[in-house]
Amino acid sequence: MLTPPEDTRGGAVGTRSGIIAAMASPLVAALLLSSQAALPPALLAVVPRPVRIERGEGAFVLGPATRLRADASLRRTAELLQEELRRATGWSFPLLDSFAPADPGAPEIRLRIDRSLAGLGSEGYRLTSTPGGVEISAAAAAGAFYGVQTLRQLLPPELLRKAKTPGVRWEIPAVRVEDRPRFSWRGSHLDVARHFMPKRAVLDHIDLMALHKLDVFHWHLTDDQGWRIEIRKYPRLTEVGSRRRESQLGRDEEKGDGTPHGGFYTQDDVREVVRYAAERFVTVVPEIEMPGHAQAILAAYPDLGNTPAPVEVWTRWGISERVLSVDERTIAFLTDVLAEVVDLFPSTYVHVGGDEVPPAEWEASPAARERMREVGARSPEELHSWLMGRVGAFLASKGRRLVGWDEILDGGPPPPGAVVMSWRPAKGGLEAVRAGLDVVMAPTTHTYLDYYQSKEPGEPLAIGGFLPLETVYAFEPVPPELEGGERTSCILGAQAQLWTEFLATPEAVQYMAWPRLAALAEVVWSPRESRDLADFRARLAPHLRRLDALGVRHGS
Ligand code: ACM
Repeated sequence: MLTPPEDTRGGAVGTRSGIIAAMASPLVAALLLSSQAALPPALLAVVPRPVRIERGEGAFVLGPATRLRADASLRRTAELLQEELRRATGWSFPLLDSFAPADPGAPEIRLRIDRSLAGLGSEGYRLTSTPGGVEISAAAAAGAFYGVQTLRQLLPPELLRKAKTPGVRWEIPAVRVEDRPRFSWRGSHLDVARHFMPKRAVLDHIDLMALHKLDVFHWHLTDDQGWRIEIRKYPRLTEVGSRRRESQLGRDEEKGDGTPHGGFYTQDDVREVVRYAAERFVTVVPEIEMPGHAQAILAAYPDLGNTPAPVEVWTRWGISERVLSVDERTIAFLTDVLAEVVDLFPSTYVHVGGDEVPPAEWEASPAARERMREVGARSPEELHSWLMGRVGAFLASKGRRLVGWDEILDGGPPPPGAVVMSWRPAKGGLEAVRAGLDVVMAPTTHTYLDYYQSKEPGEPLAIGGFLPLETVYAFEPVPPELEGGERTSCILGAQAQLWTEFLATPEAVQYMAWPRLAALAEVVWSPRESRDLADFRARLAPHLRRLDALGVRHGS
């Protein structure tokens, strides 16, 4: 048995570990029972499950003569497929453009744009494979890319190995697939502040997201324990803020490991990650935390705080009491930083955190109290809301939309156009949807993959909680309260969180992510009616062989 989670978050109500204790396991058990509806066993192990997949007669078998053919706008997608096919098989897979003369009967994998499929949306696709070849068609490039992801899963898992595997029969079963996603925001969040993850690990994570048709990479770049993105105007953010003296040892706040930890991404690194993601139809949403979770900023630029007392980049987990001031100087700093961020990230959405802001420093600071009087804020929450308004207006001036954790609702309406990321299960989401705000569902109860996935002995130390695969799979992003026909189009989708206090390496992250993130991918991609745990489990066994072929460390 797992011992009850320790409070690693300083014990404040509404913190992550506080919410862990409130998780209702009888409810989870009931949800699991009700999801055993009788669907036929999975015919083909595609994850996430397509809207329609029908088996035909026979199979297409790749060989040395197989060619690729793609419309010009799909060339990069075709090249990515070509690279993988070449590596796995050793054959050349010449890539022809769609105007090259046809050679009737030549074995081909064809990618094409077909505007008549507009009814499937920009991310939908049709895939038809017969013994003669494969055709993937879509109204837009994203759809063709997702068709290729399905094709990769129809091939033997050895396709995904880093090296050629001789002796494999490269067979694609004859199928007809029609598919499109349920939600547009299919997200995976990764905290690289608590533990820095090398650029290669970030790219690998994006590759895995793409294989599962996830399309928003929420990159949590800054926190009390580290600042991880180069900002030209403020070099001390990385010179000082990207390094900490040591890290907390396990759950014991009294103990440090004595080992310095650090790392950051240069602006060139960031551009590379953004470009790599874009080729895989993944949008990178950066998160720059403010005004809390900001101790690394204060270590670099103490003048931006509420007290002159110096701080170091935090070496402990939890929520630091040290927060940014609300002076004009600090707001100028924040907008300067965001101006560089906006230049680096084409995403419409820019996340500014906004969660877990301890009020003590603002309550004690004469300058903050004066600011409250000046702007008519009656509480620290209202002051926070005012600050979000200033930052939101700046982002709007750059054509971007502010995203914030659901605390941005606590002190009044969020800035116009803001997106609420609802993480506290009892709060936020429903309220925001009813107010007509755009919402991304990210509740601790179903999407916090830093919680334990198993109660078996030997699990690596985690932050606490218990979130088995089945609970992730049972997640329903549309709250039951809204099922009576209320407007739900403002639920953009959902995402899973990977906080890394207890995940020090890319392998540790992978183990917590997979296969639970595959379950989340099905929640956000596949039709609600087709959700079936037994069917998912049947597809998961072969799917885990794909993760093995990729060398991904995973749970079960
Ligand atoms: C959060 O977990 N503090 C958003």
